[in-house]
Amino acid sequence: MMNNRELQRLIAGLFPDDVAVAGSVTCPTDAALLPEEQHQTTAMVAKRLREFTHGRHCARQAMQQLGHAPAPVLKHEDRSPVWPDQICGSISHTGDIAAAVVAHRDGYRSLGLDIETAEPLDESTHALILRPDERSADGAQAKLIFSAKEAIYKTLYPLVGSYLDFQEMVVEFDKADGTFAAQPHTDRVPPPLAAALQGRYQVTPDWVVAATWIRAAAD
Ligand SMILES: CC(C)(COP(=O)(O)OP(=O)(O)OC[C@H]1O[C@@H](n2cnc3c(N)ncnc32)[C@H](O)[C@@H]1OP(=O)(O)O)[C@@H](O)C(=O)NCCC(=O)NCCS
Repeated sequence: MMNNRELQRLIAGLFPDDVAVAGSVTCPTDAALLPEEQHQTTAMVAKRLREFTHGRHCARQAMQQLGHAPAPVLKHEDRSPVWPDQICGSISHTGDIAAAVVAHRDGYRSLGLDIETAEPLDESTHALILRPDERSADGAQAKLIFSAKEAIYKTLYPLVGSYLDFQEMVVEFDKADGTFAAQPHTDRVPPPLAAALQGRYQVTPDWVVAATWIRAAAD
């Protein structure tokens, strides 16, 4: 089992240095929502409320590292987070773990973070997640493809504003340096945007983590 420091080091090792990272392996007892956020959570069951609160707690810790005052991170109807004007970010949770990454908008257009357990992806879902040219992947590789696609989606969604199916994206890995790139199979993602997306990943015996970002200077 990781501790908080190991989790943060794992994620921070994937992003550039000017991306702030916060994460914890269990929800701290002092994690709390701001009043504006509470209004959006009245229908949530206890488990969902806990992960939502944990993610917002991490987001505020990461904002603090950027020198940003604690601010609400509301959610759109489609569940995507509403970041304060000057920053962009991403949240992921799995089991009791939650983490958030944030960066100044003058440096980054968008970020993506995904954390998954390292269990192989169930074979019954391969046809849904993998494109035909990715189907030779074994369960472990399929899980990495899944995680990379989720991080890519979190990065692209705020910029393209539409759902992207798993079949509309191919991930190209460079295993030698632990990076990946997004190859969209849809005209809803402009090629320069996909080309500007950078990805890094890490697989440990327990976890798969995918990190993605698009810099502000990129088209
Ligand atoms: C949105 C999605 C990526 C979330 O992934 P997940 O494994 O279920 O959950 P995670 O814990 O990693 O991430 C959840 C967080 O993602 C964020 N999120 C949700 N929808 C989002 C969106 N459209 N864009 C960006 N971030 C989003 C939220 O902050 C959410 O946490 P919160 O609800 O507590 O705020 C996933 O549910 C989904 O809809 N995937 C289908 C689309 C896809 O991945 N396509 C791949 C091809 S590009």
